[in-house]
Amino acid sequence: MRGLLITGGAGFIGSNFVRYILQKYPDYRVVVYDKLTYAGNLENLKDVARDFAGRYAFVRGDIVEAEKVRAVIREHQVNAIVNFAAATHVDRSLMEPDEFIRTDVYGTYVLLEATRELGLERMHQVSTDEVYGQVLEGRAGEDAPLHTRSPYAASKAGGDLLCLSYFASFGVPVTITRGANNIGPYQYPEKVVPLFITNAIDQQPLPLYGDGMQMRDYQYVLDHCEGVDLVLQRGEPGQVYNIGTGVETHNIVMARAILDLLGKPYSLIRSVPDRPGHDRRYALEVSKIRALGRQSSHSFAQALEETVHWYVKNEWWWRPIKNGEHYRAYYQQQYDQRLARGQAVAE
Ligand code: NAD
Ligand code: TYD
Repeated sequence: MRGLLITGGAGFIGSNFVRYILQKYPDYRVVVYDKLTYAGNLENLKDVARDFAGRYAFVRGDIVEAEKVRAVIREHQVNAIVNFAAATHVDRSLMEPDEFIRTDVYGTYVLLEATRELGLERMHQVSTDEVYGQVLEGRAGEDAPLHTRSPYAASKAGGDLLCLSYFASFGVPVTITRGANNIGPYQYPEKVVPLFITNAIDQQPLPLYGDGMQMRDYQYVLDHCEGVDLVLQRGEPGQVYNIGTGVETHNIVMARAILDLLGKPYSLIRSVPDRPGHDRRYALEVSKIRALGRQSSHSFAQALEETVHWYVKNEWWWRPIKNGEHYRAYYQQQYDQRLARGQAVAE
């Protein structure tokens, strides 16, 4: 039986990954190690705790706590770490970069040291296409330079480079995946797609940054999970693998598609002052993961439809978050002034 330590497993992608792994591999055990920040939520794992009680454990903890990390690895006979734990939202990294550097850089170092000292089989780092910075033309392959422009992206790049250094210097068996934007169930509604869906359901404005002509490769979260698993099983230590669909969509098109699916008017879209340092376009070259055996993924339209459907059906999950004090304070700080200066977008 294999034991995985899934750090950040109570967040959006981590919780989807935990469910995916436990369903797919009857001989795997999973320990979720998560600090439960505002983004971590045990509601995301409620069904997992019920359905996989014998093979799933949860430990609340911070990845920067080296002793605790080691103790959990020993106690639960962990063979490999999959690191999803991170501070993840670009806009928050512009407000308070501290936590990003602490968790995404130092925390990654702690996990690498634990992997090295305890001789684990693998440390897999879940990274992001944002480390390449904006890709105005063409696509970023795994060897493209890292031109980060936000504290979030820079912290993730720092974590990636530490991983590669531990492979080169100490032979620690690391792999890295750089995923494009994920959408799907259990995404905290600060990220654009669940923010726009839930605002639209409530007939609230959709704050579109700048001209809305920025592009992202929006992929379905379970396609990303499948790619991470593929790299865990077949990836080569010391290697980086991009995971995305290879198709980009403009934000304005994404916003209109959400409104179409919900039967809401485009007049809900408000063009608001842009995010500083906003990356215009991310675009990944995905042939390396395809060569490893990755097959088809959801199209943008399918991924968005499933996502919208999930948020419509699962108000029990997001309504308490949006009504909570933490979310409301963040929303006010991030959007009140922007929305006051916002303008309608021509249809
Ligand atoms: P999320 O914000 O939903 O979840 C992050 C999780 O990490 C939360 O459960 C949180 O409690 C936990 N966490 C934060 N700091 C911690 C710490 N110091 N110790 C232990 N746990 C801590 O994030 P997500 O969107 O699920 O992203 C997961 C990973 O995937 C991140 O590493 C992110 O950089 C990467 N990624 C995300 C996307 C995306 O579109 N969301 C795309 C590519 C890569
Ligand atoms: P986001 O979900 O924050 O992900 P990323 O890490 O790629 O920035 O934002 C996705 C895109 O949506 C990005 O181009 C910024 C834009 N956006 C808005 O237009 N309005 C918003 O309120 C947010 C949060 C994002």
